[in-house]
Amino acid sequence: MAISENAAPRRLALVTGASAGIGESFATLLAERGFDLCLVARRLDRLEALASRLAEQHGVEAFAVPADLGDPQAPEAVVKAIAARRRDVDVLVNNAGYGLHQRFATAPWAVQSEFLEVMVRAPMHFARLVLPGMLERRWGRIVNVASLAAFAAEPPGSTYTASKLFLLSASRALWLAHRGSGVHITASCPGFTYTEFHDVLGVREAMGSMPRCMWQSSRAVVEESWRAVERDKPVVVTGLVNKVIATAMHFLPFSCATLLTPRSLRDREKLSTR
Ligand SMILES: NC(=O)c1ccc[n+]([C@@H]2O[C@H](COP(=O)([O-])OP(=O)(O)OC[C@H]3O[C@@H](n4cnc5c(N)ncnc54)[C@H](OP(=O)(O)O)[C@@H]3O)[C@@H](O)[C@H]2O)c1
Repeated sequence: MAISENAAPRRLALVTGASAGIGESFATLLAERGFDLCLVARRLDRLEALASRLAEQHGVEAFAVPADLGDPQAPEAVVKAIAARRRDVDVLVNNAGYGLHQRFATAPWAVQSEFLEVMVRAPMHFARLVLPGMLERRWGRIVNVASLAAFAAEPPGSTYTASKLFLLSASRALWLAHRGSGVHITASCPGFTYTEFHDVLGVREAMGSMPRCMWQSSRAVVEESWRAVERDKPVVVTGLVNKVIATAMHFLPFSCATLLTPRSLRDREKLSTR
């Protein structure tokens, strides 16, 4: 822990995917709450700008570690870079992620394998690297950013939903394993959130048909997620509308649930030309 000027120890939060959207909002909220920050993503310019802004505004230490989490070596390299600064990770926000807009049967395996690396293996690798220290210090927070998609029917040919279901299930299992240890583990399940996600996926226009009541700001998602991990809840579905959808999906048979998948997502395989 770093010692601040008034001698209060400051904890360090590692946020992946901090260069945009939900990750950027998480970094901002954690800086407001007095956490030092290690910001991870590929776009170093954005991370450095955010780190300087948060350090200046909130008097915390914030630094960027650029990493492509599609590289299996990346989580270990990031944690080593933090250890080189003689810091421990007290909060881990596994947030980096994207959607894959390619047909499963034809997209190169390298593309799909990299996707699963970012979405599944990297979050688990980070958790494995930082959990022992958290348990030893008897304090830690891990937020795995999953998705409402984990409760929904699978859009045709997509492994996105499967990756989020994995994160949800792994979070629950880790929560069970470490209850009472001082380490809280929560899967956050946002629905449609205003970020760059749908621009990266190339479906921004199609998303225009989704009713506004189904959308949340990244700030709202992050505030509710942080409240949930502080209260040691294993899972949080953010927003009232999303809670209703998640509950309804729980009771619907697969054949009906697929009909409720938004057309824009159902038709993704058809939309895809790659
Ligand atoms: N937006 C939604 O509607 C929504 C809903 C439910 C769940 N989610 C989940 O929320 C998380 C954050 O997404 P977002 O909505 O905030 O999207 P976003 O605005 O596109 O941000 C995605 C972040 O992930 C990082 N990232 C992507 N690929 C990476 C890689 N290979 N290595 C390192 N970092 C990588 C990006 O940074 P660089 O490009 O700089 O690397 C960026 O910081 C994702 O896990 C997403 O699945 C989003």
